Amino acid sequence: MPQNQQISKRAISLKPSLTLEISAKAKALKAKGVDICSLSAGEPDFETPSFIVEAAIKALKDGITRYGPAAGDIELREAIAYKQTNINKVDTDIKNVLITNGGKQAIYNLMQVLLNPNDEVLIPAPYWLSYPTITQLAGAKPIIINSNPKNGFKIDIDELETKITERTRLLILNSPGNPTGRIIPKLEMEYIASFLRKHPKILVLSDEIYEYLVDDGLIHYNLNNIAPDLTNRIFIVNGFAKAWAMTGWRIGYLVGNSEIIEKAIALQSQSTSNVCSFAQKGALAAITAPKDYINEMLTSYNKRRDILSSELNKIDGVSLIKPKGAFYAFPEIRKNNLDSIEFCKIALDKVGLAMVPGSAFGEDNCVRLSCAVSIETIKEGLERLENLLKIIK
Ligand SMILES: Cc1ncc(COP(=O)(O)O)c(C=O)c1O
Repeated sequence: MPQNQQISKRAISLKPSLTLEISAKAKALKAKGVDICSLSAGEPDFETPSFIVEAAIKALKDGITRYGPAAGDIELREAIAYKQTNINKVDTDIKNVLITNGGKQAIYNLMQVLLNPNDEVLIPAPYWLSYPTITQLAGAKPIIINSNPKNGFKIDIDELETKITERTRLLILNSPGNPTGRIIPKLEMEYIASFLRKHPKILVLSDEIYEYLVDDGLIHYNLNNIAPDLTNRIFIVNGFAKAWAMTGWRIGYLVGNSEIIEKAIALQSQSTSNVCSFAQKGALAAITAPKDYINEMLTSYNKRRDILSSELNKIDGVSLIKPKGAFYAFPEIRKNNLDSIEFCKIALDKVGLAMVPGSAFGEDNCVRLSCAVSIETIKEGLERLENLLKIIK
């Protein structure tokens, strides 16, 4: 590469998202006619509900096609503040809300305005794979907190304590979680709250993008509810992609302390300007409608998650504590000394099964399987997995 075209230090280690890459590879092979069964999806297999689509079309026809406020559509921010206050029971004003290009950009913007070079971010593993990279893009250091699949990936408070330094700035929580589908139980949230009270400089990024996708009768425990005294230190990341099947619309939001939000708005105004104006009208229709559509999809995910989990546990060489939320299972697999990337490559080559290697999420003993596919695809995929485990035995 010519000297004057060298890439920045920041970009040298930057790699594309492995999950997006694997899904794209599986789709490309399928398009070529290769018999591929993909359990790698990270997105709903439903279409966006039609009333949401209609609202965006109406907005387009009504001429909502121009630049909008950098912070987001005012009505949408109001609706999010209303939801946070009345449903999540966290007092929220419009000035605490920023609309972003997906939950991902909410995380990006927050880290850019909070972190200084060499600050440290505590990331419990297994983690959603973009957290460490977005941390590094802000010049900060991801500090991984290990966990154990055998105890259901419980967050180890003792390990959290040992990883603290004077540079620790942020703790990331993700419940229900990707890739594990784990919901942090109430008692564990209480321990986390006590830990945070002992360390007043640490802020929290609470990624709640799967908040509605939980098993029948369960609720997602919100750190804000468990520890209202910590609200000013908690930043909530959420979005429309998962619950409303709106991945391509790119609408998320960040909720938190208004001074930090103000800076995140300034960053947005200097980078992406605003989120697509007519798409936000679709999101407004989604968040102000009754939850029937979500509930229909939820019933289907819950059924499929049950099938995926119980069938996985029947396979010799696979063990799993049943996930209770999101649409993933993250079982431990006996891979005969293969690392998870090699294992997933062999799975694609030998039995045409697409899965996401656990190392992408910081846990090489596991692989991520999705239940955002039909029951037939789940069953077919698990049959292929069983065959693969027989081959590599
Ligand atoms: C845990 C988690 N947080 C955030 C996101 C980002 O979602 P969005 O598509 O809204 O950017 C995802 C997407 O997969 C996710 O799994």
